[in-house]
Amino acid sequence: MKLLDEIADIGRDPVSGGYVRYAWTEPELALRDWFRDQATQRGLALEDDGNGNIFAWWGSGPDAVLTGSHLDSVPHGGAYDGPLGVVSALLAIDELRQRGVKPAKPIGIAVFAEEEGSRFGLACLGSRLLTGAVAPDQVDLQGVFEPVGRRQDILDRIGCFVELHIEQGRALQRPVGVASAIWPHGRWRLDFAGEPNHAGTTQMGDRRDPMLTFAFTVLAANKEARLRHAHATIGRVQVAPNATNAIPSSVRAWLDARAPSPEIVDELVEALRAKASERASRDGTTVTMTAESITPAIEFHIGLRDRLARLLDAPILPTGAGHDAGVLSAYVPTAMLFVRNPTGVSHSPLEYAADEDCEAGVTALADVLQDLTC
Ligand code: GLV
Ligand code: MN
Ligand code: MN
Repeated sequence: MKLLDEIADIGRDPVSGGYVRYAWTEPELALRDWFRDQATQRGLALEDDGNGNIFAWWGSGPDAVLTGSHLDSVPHGGAYDGPLGVVSALLAIDELRQRGVKPAKPIGIAVFAEEEGSRFGLACLGSRLLTGAVAPDQVDLQGVFEPVGRRQDILDRIGCFVELHIEQGRALQRPVGVASAIWPHGRWRLDFAGEPNHAGTTQMGDRRDPMLTFAFTVLAANKEARLRHAHATIGRVQVAPNATNAIPSSVRAWLDARAPSPEIVDELVEALRAKASERASRDGTTVTMTAESITPAIEFHIGLRDRLARLLDAPILPTGAGHDAGVLSAYVPTAMLFVRNPTGVSHSPLEYAADEDCEAGVTALADVLQDLTC
């Protein structure tokens, strides 16, 4: 897709081929500049919300139809997760203009900050700040940015939000689908502590090795998730002092847990807490689990969802992935369009969508914007 190709080199790691575009780092700032330039070329009015989110408006006033997504990435993520929604929004406006459409309501494109939570740990940071789902004093942005918090004036102008996003599993068999729901999910930090000591001289029975408790916990997370038809992932870990010939003093890891219901997420996390603590007492170590980012179950606006599915003759499907649309949905009628992901791979350099499907996504988004604004 030509417009996506324009940003293909920004923040791309030459070794992994994936994107490293963390919020307010140089590549992400370059993407923001690129977006501002694209919006200006189209005569859209730019607005910063003081929370790191950018809006570009075609028209002004209330009852706006907002679309857009995010430009930040997970570590070594794919090209489509986020940017596809932003690029498609710009192209959908081009298409509406080519069709000669004169919208009766404003159309906005949002670029939300730190959707992935890769830099500060809280997923959907920008949309949570905008809506007041989280207050500025509840987040630690390490002096990088001073958010202003809830912007009721902006929320009051939004009639509805429709985010286009690549599907992140293999469930969608057609080029475009409509989302029904997002699984509840969250992130927990796990801190394992033990006794640092010599790898060669410390008897196996004398060790207090937090790596053992950690290793057990990784396997237990997998087992407890499988037992509940839930998803649990430990994909990030830090070891101190990280020496080949020393028993670690501590291991810090992050659990991502998701399930069809919040009760199952809670059960899974509590079962894991109990198992990890029991193992820690056997290992002579300690473990604590701290919630860093909790996202409730989301059901998108049923009327909007059905209207879009009818308009596009598109299937309706749930997802296990989180989105700014999930946060917005508690405040304004919200829907999502998904573009087919033939391999289902995402949060990976291998993420892929066919150009024809991306183009079908743009047409679908243009149809939706036209339907909702005319
Ligand atoms: C965001 O992509 C998430 O689901 O973690
Ligand atoms: Mn993502
Ligand atoms: Mn995303």
